[in-house]
Amino acid sequence: MRRRPEPELMEGPEQALAYAEADFSEANELFLKLLARLEPGPLLGARALDLGCGPADIVIRFLRAYPSAQCDALDGSPAMLQHARHALDQLPGIAPRCRLLCRSLPCAELPQTHYDLVLSNSLLHHLHDPQVLWRTVRESARPGAIVLVMDLMRPASAAWAEALVATYAADAPEVLRNDFRNSLFAAFEPQEVVEQLREAGLDGLEVGVVSDRHLAISGRLP
Ligand SMILES: C[S@@+](CC[C@H](N)C(=O)[O-])C[C@H]1O[C@@H](n2cnc3c(N)ncnc32)[C@H](O)[C@@H]1O
Repeated sequence: MRRRPEPELMEGPEQALAYAEADFSEANELFLKLLARLEPGPLLGARALDLGCGPADIVIRFLRAYPSAQCDALDGSPAMLQHARHALDQLPGIAPRCRLLCRSLPCAELPQTHYDLVLSNSLLHHLHDPQVLWRTVRESARPGAIVLVMDLMRPASAAWAEALVATYAADAPEVLRNDFRNSLFAAFEPQEVVEQLREAGLDGLEVGVVSDRHLAISGRLP
């Protein structure tokens, strides 16, 4: 099935609200499990960068799991970051370790380079040019940094996409069902990601299929 890109930023207030209220705990816990498999250790004083953080559920799970880490969380959508701010404000033990950044990629201005971890969930498929993500990973991470990018994987047919929507979003609001369907069409196939990494000089990272609808790119930079 041919890729059908979708708009990059999730800027609509209704869209951002539906996303922030949805339960993505299964996928987000999978993300944390994949990170643990990379054996990051206690991450004492480590600084992470989360690209396309949305309402910050993954950032919060990450900072809970690694109490000595800090995270810069970037998203280009003010509506999404408002939900992230709200979620963090309920968590005084975690909020001081998270800095929210309203920036769109490609973005020359990051508060620092040499991050110890670069994380991203469900951003890659939004990007019209996937190299924007891989360039940012290369430029923002220190040598030896951990990289974990998880995303949807494009199904082989429209019928398969519909089956995934029916399985995982049957009771979701219409706006979320549409977003999920559009995201499946916009996502990449594993082999396309392998080629993107080769082009970016990041072919030391591993591409794996981690669920019936997700792929993950993980490893350490040289
Ligand atoms: C599907 S959401 C994922 C949010 C979060 N990572 C999660 O797993 O719940 C994708 C997010 O990426 C953001 N985004 C898309 N394109 C972007 C870009 N070029 N620069 C910065 N953020 C972007 C969107 O605004 C949206 O909040």
